[in-house]
Amino acid sequence: MTIADNGRGISEASRKHLSEPFFTTKGMIGTGLGLWVTKQIIEKHQGTIQVRSSIRGLRRGTTFSIILPVDFR
Ligand SMILES: Nc1ncnc2c1ncn2[C@@H]1O[C@H](COP(=O)(O)OP(=O)(O)OP(=O)(O)O)[C@@H](O)[C@H]1O
Ligand SMILES: [Mg+2]
Repeated sequence: MTIADNGRGISEASRKHLSEPFFTTKGMIGTGLGLWVTKQIIEKHQGTIQVRSSIRGLRRGTTFSIILPVDFR
């Protein structure tokens, strides 16, 4: 599953901290838990989450891809 936006993008410096709990750039209105909880749930299901982001130009925005295994048993 891929979710993409054309928002402000995420700087390289911020990208390094995305999976840390309580990392937020939203000051008092962000908990910094959204992505951390998301990643924990995905990894509990043996999945992975990837992020691609650009902060300038026409391609500005962020794409998150979630890959989950399928069990056919
Ligand atoms: N789609 C996005 N576009 C730009 N920045 C993002 C995006 N998603 C996450 N971020 C950045 O990653 C940080 C951490 O995101 P996370 O969802 O974990 O917490 P939050 O959004 O700050 O808080 P909350 O989840 O409580 O709203 C954000 O503060 C923001 O800087
Ligand atoms: Mg969030």
